[in-house]
Amino acid sequence: GATPAGDRLGRTMHDLRISVTDRCNFRCTYCMPKDVFDRDHAFLPRSELLSFEEIVRIARLFVEQGVRKIRITGGEPLLRKQLERLIEQLARLDVEITLTTNGALLAQQARKLADAGLRRVTVSLDALDDAVFQRMNDVGFPVGRVLEGIAAAADAGLGPVKVNCVVKRGVNDGEILPLARHFRGSPHILRFIEFMDVGSHNGWNLDAVLASREVIARISDAFPLDPIEPGYRGEVAERWRYRDGQGEIGVISSVTHAFCRDCTRMRLSPEGQLFTCLFADRGHDLRGTLRGGSDDAALTSLIRAIWRNRDDRYSELRGEATRAAKVEMSYIGG
Ligand code: GTP
Ligand code: 5AD
Ligand code: SF4
Ligand code: SF4
Repeated sequence: GATPAGDRLGRTMHDLRISVTDRCNFRCTYCMPKDVFDRDHAFLPRSELLSFEEIVRIARLFVEQGVRKIRITGGEPLLRKQLERLIEQLARLDVEITLTTNGALLAQQARKLADAGLRRVTVSLDALDDAVFQRMNDVGFPVGRVLEGIAAAADAGLGPVKVNCVVKRGVNDGEILPLARHFRGSPHILRFIEFMDVGSHNGWNLDAVLASREVIARISDAFPLDPIEPGYRGEVAERWRYRDGQGEIGVISSVTHAFCRDCTRMRLSPEGQLFTCLFADRGHDLRGTLRGGSDDAALTSLIRAIWRNRDDRYSELRGEATRAAKVEMSYIGG
């Protein structure tokens, strides 16, 4: 492929995150609060979604531009019908295919996803205590079934599983230690994410953020931790290892320690809008160009121009103020 072009801050494009649906079977209070995402909420109609054929065509152009990792997200990606067909086609491109899911449907789908060529999964899990977990997903989904999903994924060869926990002070920070204790000694990698001001509806405020350094301090008190080197440049999670050899954990500090300088991610929405930042207020329409009959060369130069013009670094600039209108996390997939 071509030499990857730098954006206005000199960053090259390495990852493409593809959101395949704006729907979800959970209503996590920090992401899709029930009062906003209710019966009357207008989700995208099917006709607006990119087809698998369109997604694969776009993904191939990105790979030709240097993308080495593709992550499938949502909403909840396992709600997209016949997702394994998409994975099968993406797996023919020479890149790593991963997926982020809430785990609810993983026990029943892990095997066919792995057979289709998926390499790894990341599962969101905010609590081990059932009452706390159900309060956070807000649809009464039991934690046991997510744990079964994680086990099924590992059995199907999709492990080690990364387990993402969004920490909200006063809501689930009491779960940090139980989660750490649970996954210690397993091959899975538990990661704590600082609660972010994504979207416009999640009622974010700085008081609800528990800084990663405090997460590390709390765990280290019980189980001493040592920092380890990043796995690759631009890795989002900071890695720590249990001193007694029982595995590793990670923290994602998008609020207290922004990592925009190494941000190499482009995001594709379910309806074919390209977003250059998780906190962007608008995307760039790729679907229009695609459906207008443009050839690969024209699409490629559009993609390159969008990346070249990019100067996003929202998390570095945030301070304590937050942008008013932002894309929803459930739409763009984190
Ligand atoms: P791996 O390299 O496989 O670990 O991928 P990853 O670290 O990107 O994993 P994942 O997609 O699970 O990202 C973890 C979480 O970090 C996301 O769900 C977001 O909450 C957050 N995150 C990921 N990318 C960005 C980003 O570009 N900006 C910000 N602010 N947060 C991000
Ligand atoms: N802050 C931090 N992480 C979030 N996620 C969703 N909303 C937020 C938020 N406001 C996480 C999910 C999942 C990933 C896709 O993003 O829990 O792990
Ligand atoms: Fe929760 Fe993820 Fe669904 Fe948002 S998309 S409501 S974080 S499971
Ligand atoms: Fe990248 Fe935007 Fe996140 Fe910064 S805030 S790391 S630019 S997605």
